[in-house]
Amino acid sequence: NSSSGSGVEEELTNNDNIEELQLSSLPQEKLLDSISFYLYQGCWVPSTFLNGVIYFQKHFEARDTDIILASIPKSGTTWLKALIFTIVNRSRYALQESPLLASNPHELVPFLDNHYMKNQSSIDDLSSPRILNTHVPFALLPHSIVTSNSRIIYTCRNPLDQLVSYWHFLLALYPEQTTMKLLPLEKAFEMACQGVQIYGPFWEHLLGYWKASLEHPDKILFLKYEDLKEDVNFHVKRLADFLGCPFSVDEERRGVIEEISKFCSFDNLKNLEVNKLGKRPAGHGNSVFFRKGNVGDSQNYLTSSMEKRSIQFGPWPRASGTLRK
Ligand code: A3P
Repeated sequence: NSSSGSGVEEELTNNDNIEELQLSSLPQEKLLDSISFYLYQGCWVPSTFLNGVIYFQKHFEARDTDIILASIPKSGTTWLKALIFTIVNRSRYALQESPLLASNPHELVPFLDNHYMKNQSSIDDLSSPRILNTHVPFALLPHSIVTSNSRIIYTCRNPLDQLVSYWHFLLALYPEQTTMKLLPLEKAFEMACQGVQIYGPFWEHLLGYWKASLEHPDKILFLKYEDLKEDVNFHVKRLADFLGCPFSVDEERRGVIEEISKFCSFDNLKNLEVNKLGKRPAGHGNSVFFRKGNVGDSQNYLTSSMEKRSIQFGPWPRASGTLRK
């Protein structure tokens, strides 16, 4: 299933570094002509990010004050970026002056896997505390993130909802290729069942952070999208406590927690002009990050045969603690 002629392979061929040359022999799987994944250190890294991930692993120096948001794509990263940014900067910006009114959350919280290699100085020069994002599994994090006093917030989501969300994301990004014919949901689903999905296997990603959060609860906060949906105010408070900037009694009395939750809500962010009309540097609209924002939407897309196979994904705890299947 390997393909040739990808940009990554061309870059690797031009690279004198023997270690990197060996990457061209990594297992590769293709989702679409333009989207393939390399199995790098046990993780299916998108080919377009591979060099960036390796560079980030080797060169990134964490600060003790860094806040690292980690996730599998489509697990609520945009929401958490907005929430963390707003909580941490609340004494700097009133909500009516928030940079989120003019910038998409992804502009304010840089994505390290891709951008550290391309624009290291813009990240090295950020003032502390830096809020940064990665999708790499815990085992692939740069050493300095693990050993420093930086904090990690991890968000995950029901794998079926995550998969359906990613599939829609691709439809939005590549409408010409990702017609139902070229990328049937069944194909993405089958590949995910084999662990081949963006930054998969899913459960290894999740469990890596879960186990680390149990061992180091002061360093890693493990969150579920569904839990935030159920009680966002509780989690806004929890995030502030974890990040060492708890809400004062006066802030609580003034309703600051509820205001932040409302400001970062799906409906509010989706309807901001910057997110309705603005574009990412890659050319697609900011609107692709705001689709439905619901729990359980995958049930509207799974066929009965996929439902049967989905047992492979295992049960997903509801926010209340009961199991979904
Ligand atoms: P759906 O495609 O199910 O609607 P990520 O930010 O990791 O890419 O995840 C995207 C998912 O989070 C999308 O899910 C998107 O609609 C949802 N989302 C984005 N902003 C949100 C918000 N403020 N509140 C809740 N969900 C949000």
